[in-house]
Amino acid sequence: MSKTFYITTPIYYVNARPHIGHAYTTIACDTIARRHRMFGDDTWFLTGTDEHGQKIERAAQAAGKTPQQFTDEISAEFRALWQHMGLTPDDFIRTTSARHQQGVQALWRKIRDNGYIYKGTYTGQYCVSDELYVDAEPGAPCPDCGRPTETVQEENYYFKLSAFQDQLVRLYTEQPDFIRPETRRNEVLSFVRGGLRDLSISRSTFSWGIPVPDDPKHVVYVWLDALANYITALGYGSSDASKFDKYWPADVHMIGKEIVRFHCVYWPAFLLAAGLPLPKSITAHGWLLFEESKMSKSRGNIVRAETIVDVLGTDALRYFLLREVVFGQDGSFSFDALVQRYNSDLANGLGNLASRTLTMIARYFKGEVPYPSNTAHTPADAAIAETATKAIADYGTLFDQFQFSRALETAWGLVSAVDKYIVENEPWSLGEKKDRDEESRSRLATVLYTSAEALRIVTALAHPVMPDATAKIWAQLGLGDIRKFDLAGLQWGQLRLGTKLGDVQAVFPRADKSAVERMQTMEKVEDVVDVLGGGATGVSPVQPSAVRPPAAPKPAVAIPDGKISIDDFAKVELRVAQVKTAERVKGADKLLRLEVDLGTEVRQLVAGIAEAYEPEALIGRKVVIVANLAPRKLRGLESNGMIVAAAPEGGKPVLASFLEDVPVGTRLK
Ligand code: MSP
Repeated sequence: MSKTFYITTPIYYVNARPHIGHAYTTIACDTIARRHRMFGDDTWFLTGTDEHGQKIERAAQAAGKTPQQFTDEISAEFRALWQHMGLTPDDFIRTTSARHQQGVQALWRKIRDNGYIYKGTYTGQYCVSDELYVDAEPGAPCPDCGRPTETVQEENYYFKLSAFQDQLVRLYTEQPDFIRPETRRNEVLSFVRGGLRDLSISRSTFSWGIPVPDDPKHVVYVWLDALANYITALGYGSSDASKFDKYWPADVHMIGKEIVRFHCVYWPAFLLAAGLPLPKSITAHGWLLFEESKMSKSRGNIVRAETIVDVLGTDALRYFLLREVVFGQDGSFSFDALVQRYNSDLANGLGNLASRTLTMIARYFKGEVPYPSNTAHTPADAAIAETATKAIADYGTLFDQFQFSRALETAWGLVSAVDKYIVENEPWSLGEKKDRDEESRSRLATVLYTSAEALRIVTALAHPVMPDATAKIWAQLGLGDIRKFDLAGLQWGQLRLGTKLGDVQAVFPRADKSAVERMQTMEKVEDVVDVLGGGATGVSPVQPSAVRPPAAPKPAVAIPDGKISIDDFAKVELRVAQVKTAERVKGADKLLRLEVDLGTEVRQLVAGIAEAYEPEALIGRKVVIVANLAPRKLRGLESNGMIVAAAPEGGKPVLASFLEDVPVGTRLK
């Protein structure tokens, strides 16, 4: 019987559109799941979206949407992006789904019936951004993220977290691999040893959540709701427990380092309270940094995966993130580094090895894998076989410890060794020799067989990391569908003699300088669109080719697809305003702070047009603004409305204006 393997990502908040930080965790899990599938394990890979709580409720409000409408849209974006990137989760759980709600309520009842829930009053600080109760004085910032906290006083249900302190300490010490890496384990251990206080697990001042069983004035605390996804997705609390019985406990919960406490303290305590088995391990990776700080929507420094996929294909980002960042530590993303790695390791590395080896076999042996000679061999051939055998073993060990970067380095060590081997053995000279004697032909066969076999091995090892390109190389090697290959049996010498090659084509076309510029421009356009009103609070008009916005809910009166009613348009209050003051926003290259006169009032706006307009040139200019947009903060400045501009793809924004003079405050209809 095959082994089961269950791996999960965190479920992502839907207050922001996905970026490569989210993609990072999902790619790592996808890669691990693929390797397990190649070993024949019965694998289950889960991801999803976290859609309840005050943070989401407020984001929906700011976007002028109902929470359900808002979460439907952004959750659909996550799913569409994962599909566009070729990721292969087996399930996608939404916390607003009926199956999840049912499971959470079942878990609550179980914990309650086991005596671990009681009622009390919470007075203290709450950080909405982290959805975390914090120990802080009123008015003090959140000790975790530094954002302002809010004072809440509520009658709440409490979870007896304090009852689990000793059990948790024992767990971390007896099972050192429960939390990886060790630095995180030590942090958690000292946090728990410092003493655990009971945890408030319900809220009653807002309603966007799962009702507490038998007391629906309360909703379940969003972290209890969210963590439960790992079992509700398997059918916990439903009439069909077959998946739960099969896959639980999870082998790996993969998370970012900022949510370690929730996963390593609260989650096991909830499970212990419910009498359920604990996950086998929790692995926390570091942060992806961009422009020196953690990539996140609130910092406004995000890069979208679509941009990279559209320019370099689906494999480049996967390879880059796993090769460049030491898993567990923070790592910086830059377009330059991405393109450099792509060219050196993929276009010139694996891609070049594949095309030169396969082309020579096509040319000198009519596209059939040649027979290595018994006599015409040298120690150099044996050395390649040895390097390959060692690479298979080392790659496996390192990969299983999630040391992806070192694992790939080992495999690419084989690529460089074969490159050198080819240069030194000059198969082209042997092949082009005018009167090719038997000996040079045998030698040529050995060199090309050795190169092709090494190529096959690197391709098999790299498949979970780069599913697309490796599947193509595998087919070009004449080996069929790589997904059917049993990785457990990989060893030197399996390439069958006489195998007929498929069509030879380059898999990693070299990226020229313009690739970096293209990606940067695509991101700039996205930024402007975000500032102009798309982004997290709406669906951007600039959608990458394959990730389309989800369809809007159908109105009662039949309106053709893609159209809106006049009533819908009338909701948008467009007005003429005159710029009074304009200045650059410190630390934000693209933003201007404007004060505009609407006739009835002067307002502050923040607009992403700094790269297209000098502030001085705007003073006195009449512009069009969306006057009834909910206020939002950009770089700490409140923006009351949105300036309307055309956002040409790849270019700078152009403000909407009039040929005739129009009085300030006039409405556009
Ligand atoms: N909804 C919670 C998780 C609940 S799990 C039961 C949450 N969501 S989140 O949208 O903020 O996603 C956080 C996760 O996304 C991180 O833990 C990490 O896996 C990934 N990342 C988001 N930004 C990231 C970086 N800049 N760098 C690396 N990973 C990042 O927390």
